[in-house]
Amino acid sequence: MLAIIGGTGLTQLTNLEITHRQVIRTPYGEPSGALTFGIINQHEVIFLARHGYGHTIPPHEVNYRANLWALHDQGARRVVSVASVGGIRADLTPGVIAVPHQIIDYTHGRAFTYFDGRDRLVKHIDFTHPYDLAMRKQILEAAHLAHESCVDGGVYAATQGPRLETIAEINRFERDGADMVGMTGMPEASLSRELGLSYAAIAVVVNHAAGRGSSRDGVQLETISSVTQPAMVRVRKILESLVECDGE
Ligand code: HPA
Repeated sequence: MLAIIGGTGLTQLTNLEITHRQVIRTPYGEPSGALTFGIINQHEVIFLARHGYGHTIPPHEVNYRANLWALHDQGARRVVSVASVGGIRADLTPGVIAVPHQIIDYTHGRAFTYFDGRDRLVKHIDFTHPYDLAMRKQILEAAHLAHESCVDGGVYAATQGPRLETIAEINRFERDGADMVGMTGMPEASLSRELGLSYAAIAVVVNHAAGRGSSRDGVQLETISSVTQPAMVRVRKILESLVECDGE
């Protein structure tokens, strides 16, 4: 089953026929909210709003372990994450949708693994390709079928938040090879891999990163929602198309 984790601007799916909601408790605590089960075009999906349905949980306080554990426990095998980002690379301007292919993790202090504690054998995961390659292809194909343009690839810099970055930080991320910056990509991606979930992301550029383009003198936070809303309409179309490419 496909699970969708919605980020800022996507706290519900208008095209989802909701069948039920379920509160799940996990060994890692509670997820961001009840899981919403439903049907899109005759395909079962599970939806979870990453920041809670009232958008009250900041990126560094999201219980990523509980979220992914709950989705896996309820039968999800593929997870598509929708996340808003700031664009660093020149072509990643507000409104652009991209499917990143790599991650650099700058987060700290988050509960980032299921393999802690001393009572288990140390286990490592391969993370060469942090996003599932087949799922990335499915998302790009889904976007194509939905006639929505979508950039293939980009390096996602995961920052701690909740504050935005300084110009010097964005310059550093760019030197490191990052194309976009967001606050929730990690540890979501690596926890998914630890659970054996196929995970990929749809990144929605909602602003130029600090010091770039229209954010040269500061990120205009009040304009972000006017970019986010129409972009999420396009994301919903891609998701509707993605459920058809079921990959299972
Ligand atoms: N920086 C970090 N995270 C973000 C941004 C940004 O500029 N825009 C949306 N999420």
